[in-house]
Amino acid sequence: MDILEELQQLYLFKIDKVDKVDELDSRLWRGSFSGRESTLQQLSPYVGKMKSGMARALIKIFTEPNDIILDPFSGSGVVPLEALLANRIAFANDLSPYAYVLTRGKLEAPASEKVAIKNTLAILDEIIGFAPKITLSSVPQWVKEFYHPDTLRETLATFKVLMNKQNYFLMACLLGILHHVRPGFLSFPASHLVPYLRKAKYPVETFPWMYEYRDVKSRLVAKVKRAYKRTLIPDNWDSRNYKLWNTNSMQLPIDDNQIDAIISSPPYFGALDYARDNRLRLWFLGHKDWKKIDETLTANGKIYLPQMAICLKEIYRVLKPGKYCILVLGDVERNGKTKKTAEILSELAVNVTDGKLIIDKVYDDIIPDERRSRRRTTTTKFERILVMHKI
Ligand SMILES: C[S@@+](CC[C@H](N)C(=O)[O-])C[C@H]1O[C@@H](n2cnc3c(N)ncnc32)[C@H](O)[C@@H]1O
Repeated sequence: MDILEELQQLYLFKIDKVDKVDELDSRLWRGSFSGRESTLQQLSPYVGKMKSGMARALIKIFTEPNDIILDPFSGSGVVPLEALLANRIAFANDLSPYAYVLTRGKLEAPASEKVAIKNTLAILDEIIGFAPKITLSSVPQWVKEFYHPDTLRETLATFKVLMNKQNYFLMACLLGILHHVRPGFLSFPASHLVPYLRKAKYPVETFPWMYEYRDVKSRLVAKVKRAYKRTLIPDNWDSRNYKLWNTNSMQLPIDDNQIDAIISSPPYFGALDYARDNRLRLWFLGHKDWKKIDETLTANGKIYLPQMAICLKEIYRVLKPGKYCILVLGDVERNGKTKKTAEILSELAVNVTDGKLIIDKVYDDIIPDERRSRRRTTTTKFERILVMHKI
């Protein structure tokens, strides 16, 4: 164990009481957390995903066991899953249907690999025989271009059965193997995070095996096994407590003064196209028009501030007095202009609550990699953690 890991272990597990705000220290989430995090956090990719190590540190610093932690913009569900793994109660909401399925899939994961594989095999047996009856006439050309027709039929049949059964864990696993260049995935060669075909780099004449039929069964079973490689699931998993919604955080379905902590990374100011980036996954979930979904999300310049003002009011309303709201934010550079999201949101939060949300600290976390950078934008030389509390 290196010095950094020792510090993390000591800090996160041995010290009972910490002096919250002053203890924010980026060394707590540095290092390769992806090699140590629960593999359930890796069910399917998500643009703008929070580092699970950071979520875990924030949970340990700002909350106690059995506290209710709300993430009103839960995305891929990093915060709610870390909350459950740390014996907290998780409340999660996101307006994107892909985010909802992925978050629910993580929170509804069976307690063990044995149970998960048994369920998977039983469901997959039902699909055999059903797939050849699926017709592809209503599938748009842009979707067909990603798959061998027999693979596409099987994938559609599998989604149909999983949706009928409301099996969100397996749906999330299937979403996670929809596209990539690797053999364990279902598409022709394509990128993983966002769906772009890579036929120019891998032409069919040179790489014919990348264009052959790929069976869903063996790949889904292998994916489930990967999900259980390192789950860190606690013994009391079957009695875990969570709620989740797929609605707009401008109107949260939560009573006043219910929440012990809000930990979230809200949408960036005009920076990310959540629905566009997930258009293939959304299509399989039955959402044929990703543009409509992107229009409803809080992102673009004109609606961002008025909508975030309403969301911040909601955050204030549902939080218990004296409790913390911690927002992980990125500054966004677009067309040569920098949007300092932390400053903008902290000012907004104070205004809409008449000063009843107090700003404790803005902590700068230099990002060592380019994970959050996106086309047309240079997001974020660093992420910023905005800590506020309700008086
Ligand atoms: C930065 S991402 C959150 C990422 C998440 N923390 C994770 O680790 O995956 C912001 C999220 O806000 C969601 N969103 C945008 N506008 C929303 C709104 N008005 N209500 C609820 N969710 C919204 C987007 O769908 C996106 O998933």
